[in-house]
Amino acid sequence: MTTPQGTRNSGGGMFRTKSVEQSMRDTEEPEHALKKSLSALDLTVFGVGVIIGTGIFVLTGKIAKETAGPAVALAFVVAGLVCALAALCYAEFASTVPVAGSAYTFAYASLGELPAWIIGWDLILEMALGCAVVAVGWSGYVRSLMDTAGLHLPDALTGTRDGDFGFDILACLLVLLLTGILIAGMKLSSRVSAVVVALKVSVVLVVILVGAFFITGSNYNPFIPPSQPGEAGNDITSPLIQLMFGWAPTNFGVMGIFTAAAVVFFAFIGFDIVATAAEETKNPQRDVPRGILGSLLICTLLYVLVSIVVTGMQKYTELSTDAPLADAFKSVGHPFWAGLISFGAAVGLTTVCLILLMGQTRVFFAMSRDGLLPKPFSVVHPRFGTPYRSTILLGVIVAIVAGFTSIDELAELVNIGTLFAFVVVAIGVVILRKKRPDLPRSFRTPLVPFVPILSVAASFWLMLNLPAETWLRFGIWMVLGVIIYFLYGRKHSRLGKHLPPREPVVD
Ligand code: ALA
Repeated sequence: MTTPQGTRNSGGGMFRTKSVEQSMRDTEEPEHALKKSLSALDLTVFGVGVIIGTGIFVLTGKIAKETAGPAVALAFVVAGLVCALAALCYAEFASTVPVAGSAYTFAYASLGELPAWIIGWDLILEMALGCAVVAVGWSGYVRSLMDTAGLHLPDALTGTRDGDFGFDILACLLVLLLTGILIAGMKLSSRVSAVVVALKVSVVLVVILVGAFFITGSNYNPFIPPSQPGEAGNDITSPLIQLMFGWAPTNFGVMGIFTAAAVVFFAFIGFDIVATAAEETKNPQRDVPRGILGSLLICTLLYVLVSIVVTGMQKYTELSTDAPLADAFKSVGHPFWAGLISFGAAVGLTTVCLILLMGQTRVFFAMSRDGLLPKPFSVVHPRFGTPYRSTILLGVIVAIVAGFTSIDELAELVNIGTLFAFVVVAIGVVILRKKRPDLPRSFRTPLVPFVPILSVAASFWLMLNLPAETWLRFGIWMVLGVIIYFLYGRKHSRLGKHLPPREPVVD
């Protein structure tokens, strides 16, 4: 049934969708069609800016040391391929409904309220915890800089790792500081962002070009270390696939490459943001796939080269897990380069953290505006005009999580959430082709349904390579989300009551 507000009600309301027109009215810049000004090059630069972060700066060392050895480079290739398939689907999804916004908005206008809620709930997990991961990565590089200057924090204040409980005071303070910045409504100018992106990419190039002179060939031997029995035996810390098939739990070896890929996948998160710019692109059909695939290709190439260089500079067993790129230079007696890399990494990671933190408060705000989350969260600050309540709530939670949780556990949870969103998006592309062939699509995924099916299979494969305990945590998060939807969101949904979304209330 289609109501005057344009809602399509079916499935007991859970699959009611907003009409495309209504979605456009609700977006933050509804009055104007966004200017079509971006080129493939702009999209690529933007993509590289959001994507490069803790994944390459920190996880490379940890994963090479514990899971894949020098073959971490191959893990980056595997994760990059999975992302390329998802990117092709994401681009169509983003361009099907001509509104600016996140996957939550697209899903609400196309798949229905429950799938939109699930994606929104999932996005909060992805961005909130992603921000915590990046903050922990940032803290490792700041500590590396402080060490070079002879300043040392007590171990108990450097975070939880290798089973030793601790509090990462720097990561916690960074998130609180960025929360304050967001509440005050300060934004990075595009010039500052461009400088930060340039600095971040330069640091990565320094690692590759300078580090290449310090490679010792024997460090690559063995390139794929032989598989070793896992320490813990078959328990919930083993990848789910090993538990399912009763395989002996192992680290390293060929299977270790896939386990590693499921974790370093984190390094690619952010390319979906490029897809959301489809509407602002001059020639989306041509430029969006070029922008997305271009930035993915560049990042994959940089990631592979960085991991080859770093595992060549230092034996993988010796790599540091806090600031591996900088510490590899310390290990070959070049503290100057190490300091420069730490400085660039710290600056670059700050902006990735800020973008993720802002992204999640926006999703929270949008869900509250639609009545799916309580009203106080769509109240904006009288002076700053920002959604300060959701920002404070989420900022404080993220700061605590960043302070207390170990980086790999967090990254795995972020990855499973993001991969799950990819699965929903790929399925959504196929369903929408059938259900709403009329919707305008400025970009069409090639070879439907073959590419979406392959994308679902590839994302699911990486999910299976994540530890069973990550599945458990993710399951708890999603069950919690569905309970909240049925207890609160479904009843209070503005769409369900045929009401327009809440106007932001000023306190
Ligand atoms: N891809 C981003 C990073 O690695 C989120 O930090």
